[in-house]
Amino acid sequence: MRKLITLLLSTLLLISCDNKSEKEIFINDLLSQMTLDEKIGQMNQYNGFWDATGPMPEGEYQKSRYRDLKNGLVGSMLNVTGVDNVRALQKIAVEETRLGIPLIFAFDVIHGYQTISPIPLAESSSWDLEAIEKSARVAAIEASAAGLNWTFAPMVDISRDARWGRVMEGAGEDPFLGSLIAKARVKGFQGNDLSDYNTIAACAKHFTSYGFAEAGRDYNTADTNEYTLFNTILPPFKAAVDAGVSTFMNSFNTVDEIPATGSSFLQRDILKGEWGFDGFVVSDWGSIGEMIPHGYARDGAHAAEIAANAGSDMDMESSLYIRKLDELVTSGKVDISIVDDAVKRILGVKYDLGLFDDPYKYCNKDREKNVLGSKENQEAVLDIAKKSIVLLKNDDALLPLKKKNQTIALIGQLANDKNSAIGNWRGRGASNSAVSVLEGLNSYKENKVIYTKGVDLYYGETNFFTRVDVNYNDRSGFNRARSVAKSSDVVVMVLGEEGYQTGEGRSRTNLLLPGLQQELLEEIYNVNKNVVLVLVNGRPLNISWADENIPAIVEAWQLGSQAGNAIAQVLYGDYNPSGKLTMSFPRNVGQVPIYYNYKNTGRPSKSQKVVTASAYSDVENSPIYPFGYGLSYTSFNYSDLTLSSEEMNNKQSIIASVTLTNSGKYKGKEVVQLYIRDLHGSLSRPLKELKGFEMLELEPGESKKVDFTIDNSLLKYYTVNKKWESELGDFYVYIGGNSDVDSFKKFELIN
Ligand code: BGC
Repeated sequence: MRKLITLLLSTLLLISCDNKSEKEIFINDLLSQMTLDEKIGQMNQYNGFWDATGPMPEGEYQKSRYRDLKNGLVGSMLNVTGVDNVRALQKIAVEETRLGIPLIFAFDVIHGYQTISPIPLAESSSWDLEAIEKSARVAAIEASAAGLNWTFAPMVDISRDARWGRVMEGAGEDPFLGSLIAKARVKGFQGNDLSDYNTIAACAKHFTSYGFAEAGRDYNTADTNEYTLFNTILPPFKAAVDAGVSTFMNSFNTVDEIPATGSSFLQRDILKGEWGFDGFVVSDWGSIGEMIPHGYARDGAHAAEIAANAGSDMDMESSLYIRKLDELVTSGKVDISIVDDAVKRILGVKYDLGLFDDPYKYCNKDREKNVLGSKENQEAVLDIAKKSIVLLKNDDALLPLKKKNQTIALIGQLANDKNSAIGNWRGRGASNSAVSVLEGLNSYKENKVIYTKGVDLYYGETNFFTRVDVNYNDRSGFNRARSVAKSSDVVVMVLGEEGYQTGEGRSRTNLLLPGLQQELLEEIYNVNKNVVLVLVNGRPLNISWADENIPAIVEAWQLGSQAGNAIAQVLYGDYNPSGKLTMSFPRNVGQVPIYYNYKNTGRPSKSQKVVTASAYSDVENSPIYPFGYGLSYTSFNYSDLTLSSEEMNNKQSIIASVTLTNSGKYKGKEVVQLYIRDLHGSLSRPLKELKGFEMLELEPGESKKVDFTIDNSLLKYYTVNKKWESELGDFYVYIGGNSDVDSFKKFELIN
């Protein structure tokens, strides 16, 4: 088939008198040979239910899928991994179907394939775009070695709601940082050339507003206004398009009362129209069929009609395209041009990946053997794991720990857990494959570590499909933990969430430490005040009590394969923590949604005592730890905030400068953050918006001046005119170490 296509292609090239690219000519030619059923087949994606290397699958359901595959009625498979499995299915597509069009193999490579990086929310806390790109690169290198050519990542959904379990997959609450991270991750997966053997197509998901699920309940309605959509939700998606992302995935929820899967406003007008996206859109799992329970489609045929017309190009697992689209085209309900456009997009991505040149290019057994879990990959994930840790509190310099002559009580089930740090969406990361905190601390030989669980957080094996069985009753380990703590110099308590307590379908209405962990923490603190709390979790938690009482708190997230080593190196000061939060930590769940770039309201609160202002009567409005917050073992001092001018027009720029001094005892890194406030506009404006940041590393006593250039591009937003533009008037400029910075300088944007 390939020969025939090449021959035709060269003939066409010779006679082609217009400027069509080789790719376009190839695809048009291929399309012209396809039957309607074959075209629809390209729009159909199946999950890999059978053992591909084994005999013919059992059961009518699977047999029919196998027949579809042989008949060229499948364009893509998901969840088929490993060179042997991929090769076996690819062989059927290439050798047994009429046109031999290769399949594209997809998998959720969210934070690593076999060697697991920190969960994306953790990685975002590094604010280190290079490291984040590298992490995605490592994931792509491994996934491509395992036969895959497409990942369903990055998830670029902005979220302000820690109740939503999928915050672990994103980059937090801010669109500016979220956009840069989206770009970095797309570049990491796709590399410079998608046709390289070790790059894979990325997928920006979930388009759109999925992170704004009401009350944080997964799959729930997202009710935002048009301005929130454009100013907050869409920017990371647009950044992914600008970075050349190959595919998009739509989302389960409704946006403006219409399921995103059926939204032609989102998929056709914005994505493919305004943004000129030329890749394809895959539905989320079964989301075409889910338009029926949404109360938007009458039946399966209607759902397929809506989805295809709205620009959902590939159907993940509802089988509605393969069953209904034929008839819909014949009856004129879906124009053939819609199908042709979708198929061209899908073939285009296969072409870019080089699958027409060599459908088995990702199927190299030697590479699979050498690359998966390699030492080099382990080192890379250790590096990003250290950078992802955020030091939340460190009273009286309890940290770093002394390296000698200390007895350390290590308490908490998660301290000896090799599974939870792998997190949810763990690719093919093996269960129990992470370095535990116990192992990490034990690699420092000159202290004595006494481990005792204290309490079970959960029981039994955990997995993607079932709820974690949490312990609410058994306190039998408390006594031993108390006595070990009492006789130790310092206590390290590792508490938080089991790896499957966050992620898809893991919404919570309570953000406290689950189970009996809080109770244990208080008990231990009663017998030894030298407690270091290490949090292993996938979302911001309510740790108000700990913040008031516990002297040292380290947010270690779910850090992946090398978690225990990264945590030990930070606790001992071999790595000076530099991470900064990308989601605000609430004082309690009642404050959620909580985010730094909120609006002032007409009645901003200065004191909780004032009843008629926008305040709570029981807690302050502020979060416990704001966006951008994170400490170091050293301290940093900001001084001399200056602006090069107090006014500019939209062609000019201003330099905002500050001096950063390392005023502490250790060499350390600081993320210097630039925030701007637009004092008034055609819409009510946020109190602050992140507009730049720079990471500096300074020796003790060293100072450096940091300059940020402020030009018109930083002042633009989606205004009441439905345009990205800046508006004349006053702006405040803040530069500091987190979003709570309050000293500012003012300038005016003039005509
Ligand atoms: C999730 C997607 C994921 C897909 C395929 C869905 O349930 O929402 O993010 O890519 O499954 O696994």
